[in-house]
Amino acid sequence: MATDTTTSTSTPASPAGPAPRVRWWRRPWIAPLAIITAIFLATSLPRYVGLDPTQSLVPTDRGAVFYPALVTHIFTGSIMLAAAVLQLWPWLRAHHPRVHRWSGRVYVATALVTGVAALVVAQFPSAGLGQQVANTLLGVLFLACTLLGFRAVRQRRFGDHREWMVRSTALAFSIVANRFWIPVLLAIFVPESLTDPSIGVEHPAVKDVAITSAWVSWVGNLLFAEWWLHRKPNKRARVQRSR
Ligand code: HEM
Repeated sequence: MATDTTTSTSTPASPAGPAPRVRWWRRPWIAPLAIITAIFLATSLPRYVGLDPTQSLVPTDRGAVFYPALVTHIFTGSIMLAAAVLQLWPWLRAHHPRVHRWSGRVYVATALVTGVAALVVAQFPSAGLGQQVANTLLGVLFLACTLLGFRAVRQRRFGDHREWMVRSTALAFSIVANRFWIPVLLAIFVPESLTDPSIGVEHPAVKDVAITSAWVSWVGNLLFAEWWLHRKPNKRARVQRSR
């Protein structure tokens, strides 16, 4: 992925400069992101907290290792998503840099566990090789972006840190995007599955949707992140001038 010289810099810069006064309407995405994350966690987590495999949304009869890896992945992934929202909140970054640093450490630690557990889970795909490759690639890229972002901040390359962490977070939120893409793709390609509960993941067309969604969810998020990072400089400059 190309590095944009207008946003990324190897020159050390202070992350704790004067607090930028950014009006909330210039960051209209943080509240919706927090709400979407809360809804995702509230609707996904409960079926796993009882450690009962029969409650799982996905089939769990995939070997002894699958379910423990899945719940580890989900528990640490949930903490990680909550930490990610804190990390992206500009007001918190500007006014409480210590909280930002601590939630950043929580994000990186939980991301590493989530990513490694995801790599295990990905090797037992319910929809075949296409899903396995999509999720394995997602796990590898996610771990790589997170580690590169962590290394950059340790080396005080804050521009690079921001870029890698935006990519890492975009990949982390691919599970949330997946919740959007699955019903959309089902409605387009297998509409009968939305009304007929007997049509499950063993149906070939539903498998194709699961594979397509596995790819679209993270590739779409990553493309969005690249667009975000490489937006026209004059737009960003306008925002910065008006701070
Ligand atoms: C970023 C890298 C991630 C990768 C590579 C990944 C990979 C996977 C894989 C392979 C599965 C099993 C799907 C199946 O075979 O049926 C899965 C399921 C799941 N993952 Fe992740 N995941 C990631 C991030 C997250 C995050 C951040 C969360 C937040 C809690 C999460 C929550 C879940 C849940 C709840 C399931 C169970 C299935 C479902 O409810 O949709 N994942 N993940």
